[in-house]
Amino acid sequence: MTTTFFCEYKPGLEGIPATKSSISHVDGNRGILEYRGIRIEELTAKGSFLETAYLLIWGRLPNQEELKGFQKEILYHRRIKYRIRDMMKCFPETGHPMDALQTSAAALGLFYSRRALDDPAYIRKAVVRILAKIPTMVAAFNQMRKGNDPIQPNDELDYASNFLYMLTERVPDPLAARIFDVCLTLHAEHTINASTFSAMVTASTLTDPYAVIASAVGTLAGPLHGGANEEVLVMLEEIGAVENVRSYVEERIANKQKIMGFGHRVYKVKDPRATTLQELAEELFKDTESDRYYEIALELEKVVEGELGAKGIYPNVDFYSGLVYRKLGIPSDLFTPIFAISRVAGWLAHWKEQIGVNRIFRPTQVYTGEHNALYVPMEER
Ligand code: CMC
Repeated sequence: MTTTFFCEYKPGLEGIPATKSSISHVDGNRGILEYRGIRIEELTAKGSFLETAYLLIWGRLPNQEELKGFQKEILYHRRIKYRIRDMMKCFPETGHPMDALQTSAAALGLFYSRRALDDPAYIRKAVVRILAKIPTMVAAFNQMRKGNDPIQPNDELDYASNFLYMLTERVPDPLAARIFDVCLTLHAEHTINASTFSAMVTASTLTDPYAVIASAVGTLAGPLHGGANEEVLVMLEEIGAVENVRSYVEERIANKQKIMGFGHRVYKVKDPRATTLQELAEELFKDTESDRYYEIALELEKVVEGELGAKGIYPNVDFYSGLVYRKLGIPSDLFTPIFAISRVAGWLAHWKEQIGVNRIFRPTQVYTGEHNALYVPMEER
């Protein structure tokens, strides 16, 4: 029997729609990103991360009362159970924080095992719990791997400030907190990327939302996706000095190696998130005499644009985010977990959208193997 295919096979499913969605939109040729129709620049200039998360998940901006109620619920659910902390204490301190996060996110399903996907109150509680507890778990692992007790959330602080506080036990200055909140907003959602697709596939089986988030975290961790922001700093360290940039780029291109933090499946111009992050980096670095890595980054952008701009390869979101986080005093292996803290908003929005119109994902394949092959007995192989 021959199988009929409805479209040509495309590696990486490039250009194949996997769903219909009203959550976000990217215009890759004009460098535009919109959440529920609102330009990302508007949201970063005028809104906050939690307001953006509400918009993504419930489809409209909250009014003042709704936002206050949402913030209060999140505040109430920030703490994690001592058994989760005890479990995390057994994680090896040398383990990557993304692996710690994936395990802890999955563990939430053990503690909150009721599943009622048709109950709006259940959906709301799951959304709040996940948004509230993920930052606490990231910060707790960071403390525990240094041999410290986790720092409890501070009820006086907003979402962004509280996370920075749990990392350092210091209340961050308002500029750092605002910049961090903008970073969270910028990373909150980005249509059907690999981790969101992973979340949707998992959601389509009607499993619990904690499994959905755990599978998305695992997918985000790879160096071609969220892991690139950590790799960017490794690359800047490897380059070492502005005068080495050109030879580094030429060598990578000659060896057909990727330059981390550049290129995107959808954007063929500079990623608008990279533009905002660059502005934030400029703001952070303006009082600094000179920062070697920032100078290298600026030169790298110029050289890569000259060499690869014609191919549509420009900085993506990961290029400047690492520099900003480093300047905020955040260890580089927490960059991707921070991406996850933010992207949870988008994953939850897609989870909610998916279960509202669900059909289990079950694509097909182009079989390239044999037929009627013989089973060769063990002694004859
Ligand atoms: N450096 C040098 N060349 C590149 C780069 C790069 N960063 N990205 C793409 N190219 C070239 C690639 O060599 C290929 O050239 P050719 O057609 O001559 O063989 C062409 O551009 C198309 O590349 P591709 O790998 O087929 O493109 P893709 O759409 O499959 O991959 C990407 C997109 C983001 C995985 C890729 O650009 C990449 O690996 N970039 C570096 C890693 C990175 O920064 N990832 C973060 C992505 S944005 C945030 C996120 O998704 O989490």
